[in-house]
Amino acid sequence: MSVHKEIKKVTTNVLQEMKRSGEKISMLTAYDYTMARIVDSAGIDVLLVGDSASNVMAGHETTLPITLDQMIYHASSVVRAVNRALIIVDLPFGTYQGNSKEALNSSIKIMKESGAHAVKLEGGMEVTESIQRILTAGIPVMGHLGLTPQSIYKFGTYTVRAKEELEAKKLIEDAHALEKAGCFAIVLEKIPAKLAEQVAKELTIPVIGIGAGGGVDGQVLVFHDMVGLNNEFNPRFLRRYLNLYEEIQGAVKSYITDVKSKDFPNANEQY
Ligand code: KIV
Repeated sequence: MSVHKEIKKVTTNVLQEMKRSGEKISMLTAYDYTMARIVDSAGIDVLLVGDSASNVMAGHETTLPITLDQMIYHASSVVRAVNRALIIVDLPFGTYQGNSKEALNSSIKIMKESGAHAVKLEGGMEVTESIQRILTAGIPVMGHLGLTPQSIYKFGTYTVRAKEELEAKKLIEDAHALEKAGCFAIVLEKIPAKLAEQVAKELTIPVIGIGAGGGVDGQVLVFHDMVGLNNEFNPRFLRRYLNLYEEIQGAVKSYITDVKSKDFPNANEQY
């Protein structure tokens, strides 16, 4: 079902309407102009300029090293490519935690310098003051609970979160706190499907899942993972739609062979 295909620009209100009408929200990450153009033209609802750029674009082990200026560079490239999708930008590690004034300033800088439509931040009750302060500037905020990669050194591993009752209870309380603070939507990452479904039922705002089952209001994947550009990351929740790693490697091997054998360029490929 796609009742909102005719929408020219996806807004936070459109996402809310999708939740109300039962239409699932589609979301992918994007970090550059060329890929964002293709993904937007295919009709994606939401593009997340995720701090996963730190991993997939820059090759860092975690999301912690990416800077505000680097996120703005990626976001402004995506903004130039997109006509329809709502564009959300991750507030990177160290630009909002523990300081709501800094959270506001970081968000204003992202919105002013990239032209994106909203920001996302990780955490529960501990970030509600920052969310409320960012909202005073009219900037929509998305929350993120469950496996929050900016806290990887607190967790120690990337395994499923909130399997135990105590952590599940805390996650439900945090989700309600984010909604109350004014988030227009939240992401739930790598938690049991039943818990995610319960959260989606209890909240009135859209809940987007990654590794959180099908009972939520929409799905997000990292673009590089779903098109198989990265063949080392194989979590259970990932569905690969292409195997671009091997496709591109094969194409490059053919090119090298053609250059070495003097097959390329041929008579029609020169002036
Ligand atoms: O940075 C990112 O890609 C994310 C998604 C995994 C939701 O936050």
